[in-house]
Amino acid sequence: MISVFDRLVAALRSASRVSVLTGAGVSAESGIATFRGAGGLWEGHRIEEVATPEAFAEDPERVWRFYEMRRRNARDARPNPGHEALAAMEGRFSEFLLATQNVDGLHRRAGSRNLVELHGSIARRYCVQCRRTEEDLEPLEMLPPVCPGCGGMQRPDIVWFGEPLPVAGWADAQDAARSAEVYLVVGTSAEVYPAAGLALVAADAGAAVFEINPAETALSPVFAGAIREPSGVALPRVVDALGGRTA
Ligand code: OAD
Repeated sequence: MISVFDRLVAALRSASRVSVLTGAGVSAESGIATFRGAGGLWEGHRIEEVATPEAFAEDPERVWRFYEMRRRNARDARPNPGHEALAAMEGRFSEFLLATQNVDGLHRRAGSRNLVELHGSIARRYCVQCRRTEEDLEPLEMLPPVCPGCGGMQRPDIVWFGEPLPVAGWADAQDAARSAEVYLVVGTSAEVYPAAGLALVAADAGAAVFEINPAETALSPVFAGAIREPSGVALPRVVDALGGRTA
């Protein structure tokens, strides 16, 4: 019987429109903790209790402590072979879009350019008063950090629970999901909407949707097949099977 891996490679060989949704699992092998796995709690809180406008309004310093920890993790991390394989894939297809829920910047650092960061970027913060934006991963001297322009309070440029996704990026991600012949869902628990809904959009539109994740997820039953391996192992194998890492 033909394996899921061989089916995926065959589907990719004949595809010209491919899109990918990634989540925290793709950065796990770079040493960045996922949100819902073991050790996913932060100071005893679930992510849904920290990453909200309400939590920030109540205690901005506490929310900033969480993001300062993740800024430090992102600064220390390096892209892993999974990020690199996705960057190598984008030149192989006439249409390719990588939509990530991750805010760590590792896809970009690995070289991905056809990329939508659905949930923002840990490297950016902006002033809640004048919207001036700063971008860096330097340690912050004061939490919450203060706008160098107007002295207002800054917040992370992250899409929190209850907030809308960036309009243009979300439209691009949906278009790519609708037109993809092959859609990959990599390293996400597929529990957070609307991002997880992209996989359903792709499946409804007729794409062959494959999952790469060591564990089953809420949407596994919907997919054409799953490769139960870490993405840093599976994705380089896929790229190698397609014939090398460059287009
Ligand atoms: P989760 O922490 O919910 O899920 C991580 C997934 O990665 C799980 O399904 C794991 O089985 C899988 N995984 C772990 N190690 C892996 C590896 N080496 N290779 C492949 N997969 C692996 O993270 P997300 O689905 O990304 O939003 O969470 C979605 C959103 O919820 C995040 O963007 C964040 C969070 O709240 C915001 O902060 C707004």
